[in-house]
Amino acid sequence: MLTHKIAVIAGDGIGPEVIAEGVKVLEKVAELDGGFKFEFTYFPWGCEYYKETGRMMAEGGIEELKKYDAIFLGAVGAPGVPDHISLWDLLLVIRKSFDQYINLRPVTLLKGAPCPLKDVKTEDINMTFVRENTEGEYAGSGSWLFRDKPNEVVIQDGVFSRVGCERVIRYAYELAKKEGKSLTSISKGNALNYSMVFWDKIFAEVGREYPEVETHSYLVDAASMFMVKDPRRFEIVVTSNLFGDILTDLGAAIAGGMGLAAGANLNPERKFPSMFEPIHGSAPDIAGKGIANPLATVWSASQLLDFFGHEDWGKKLIDLIEEVLVEGKTLTPDLGGSASTSDVGDEIIKKLGE
Ligand code: NAD
Ligand code: IPM
Ligand code: MN
Repeated sequence: MLTHKIAVIAGDGIGPEVIAEGVKVLEKVAELDGGFKFEFTYFPWGCEYYKETGRMMAEGGIEELKKYDAIFLGAVGAPGVPDHISLWDLLLVIRKSFDQYINLRPVTLLKGAPCPLKDVKTEDINMTFVRENTEGEYAGSGSWLFRDKPNEVVIQDGVFSRVGCERVIRYAYELAKKEGKSLTSISKGNALNYSMVFWDKIFAEVGREYPEVETHSYLVDAASMFMVKDPRRFEIVVTSNLFGDILTDLGAAIAGGMGLAAGANLNPERKFPSMFEPIHGSAPDIAGKGIANPLATVWSASQLLDFFGHEDWGKKLIDLIEEVLVEGKTLTPDLGGSASTSDVGDEIIKKLGE
């Protein structure tokens, strides 16, 4: 039988709590389908592992992960381990090593999801962010000179390669063309006079190959204002690594909260495994209480199903998330309910079975 081998890195804080529900849901989907199955292999990597071994993942971890068809990740980061170590040595090293240069993040307001904006209808917030995911402001290039001296200097470079910009921008054009939607580029060429001028130039260049795609280009400051004031403007959005990070948390805020925001880290060529994760962090403030919202993880499971060609099931999961939101009976506290993390997972499974 068609088997999808999934490496599970539940990680820290609420990571294991939400991943348990995501795995439960995927197993139920496979059982109901009957035509494919999942094989989950768990890796105990994360901050606890670091405290015991001094490493965020085992030696040779990247080589090991290469054997899998995809990675399902919870969250990384815990008090006591510096964030730049925990994230660089696990999450970011995976995104880079596996050339997961597309970070696909839906910002879609489902029916029943809370929205802090007034006079906004569900259909007004329906965007897909295509975030560059391997370079830009996250290139990890820089230096720290004269450390702890009065003349201390730090430099953090933004690295924008032609190949890196072209491929993410082209992916976004293709998506816009396929879905018949407009494409918006978000940059900051007025101040970032090398990197973002280059980005804008490539956006225009690649655009000449897609005359049928309607395009818009915003500066990131204005874009964040318009996301709140007039979110209808945005359909497919392409932007750099850091801007995409920040804007998708803003996106989460207007589309139901962090508990509903999912993301896929894709290597479109499928040369390496892709990685699916909720975009939220380990939420130390609520970890261990069993109240984390698992719906973002279920949404990323839906992205995983899409990626493996099971789009019917991917769509089914989104429909069921919406049903749970509309009914409003089984919601975690972030959505105003009193259900536990596993109650919500169980509810999705019950609905799958109906
Ligand atoms: P966070 O996303 O963990 O939490 C922000 C707020 O949102 C908190 O109040 C939290 O309780 C709430 N929240 C997040 N997910 C939720 C869910 N599923 N259900 C209900 N409420 C939820 O961001 P932070 O506090 O800035 O970061 C905490 C740690 O996570 C840090 O170590 C950070 O580096 C790390 N981090 C990891 C990832 C990742 O692994 N992908 C992403 C972001 C942050
Ligand atoms: C995200 C996270 C990561 C990022 C951090 C934890 C490195 O915030 O996936 O949105 O900035 O990409
Ligand atoms: Mn983020």
